Amino acid sequence: MKTGSWHASARTDKPDPGAIAAPSLSCNAPAVVAFHPRSTDRLWLLMPPPAEADAVLRYFERNRAHLEPWEPARPEGFYTEKFWADRLTQNRQELADGTAMRLFVVSRAVGPSHPDRVIGSCNFSNIVRGAFQSCTLGYGLDHRHVGQGLMEEALRAGIPMAFELFDLHRIQANYQPTNERSGKLLRRLGFVVEGYARDYLCIDGQWRDHVLTSKLRGA
Ligand SMILES: CC(C)(COP(=O)(O)OP(=O)(O)OC[C@H]1O[C@@H](n2cnc3c(N)ncnc32)[C@H](O)[C@@H]1OP(=O)(O)O)[C@@H](O)C(=O)NCCC(=O)NCCS
Repeated sequence: MKTGSWHASARTDKPDPGAIAAPSLSCNAPAVVAFHPRSTDRLWLLMPPPAEADAVLRYFERNRAHLEPWEPARPEGFYTEKFWADRLTQNRQELADGTAMRLFVVSRAVGPSHPDRVIGSCNFSNIVRGAFQSCTLGYGLDHRHVGQGLMEEALRAGIPMAFELFDLHRIQANYQPTNERSGKLLRRLGFVVEGYARDYLCIDGQWRDHVLTSKLRGA
């Protein structure tokens, strides 16, 4: 079994001792704040180390047909372990730079070395500071786990983390009008519809309209 801070914390249910430092974006807050994995009743929210690329790759391979209709075109090499080892390294750098927090959702129902332990992702990206203090949220869940309230559970933990860690004022999340599950999830989490953007993102080879929503801190 590969070792790493992710496994250590998943085994013991204790905060990751190898916490990742990220800069505060606030004018008045301390210069550096630390990221720690979070647990919920059924999940871990983690930033896997590059050594865990195989488990992340398996998640995306298992869910290719399920996720691709809703997400931008995959870059070359996306379905390779090398891509994910590099990407997980980059994720840590983005956190340290204060530009994104890309979390993976890990099931607590299976062992820390189970090959299918990664069951989702929650990305807080495009973090903009200053007068905006905002980011964009994106997410996906393993097709075998949809309809169990797991993404809601993950985001009820992940959203406060993002607000606090980066001192955000607003989290934006946008979905295609046909993606009813995504719309329902956002409403339950308190996101409010703010607009409708035509041809907003190129998904699955075509420009797609999106419903624009956001959640304000404390709302
Ligand atoms: C969007 C997506 C994450 C939503 O998944 P989801 O499982 O419906 O989300 P939730 O965690 O909110 O679960 C809600 C469902 O679980 C059910 N549920 C079962 N047990 C539950 C529990 N203990 N608590 C809450 N809900 C529970 C709810 O009734 C609801 O099902 P329903 O809509 O059939 O009534 C998922 O469909 C997905 O990955 N889609 C593909 C990628 C995608 O669309 N990404 C977003 C792009 S904008």
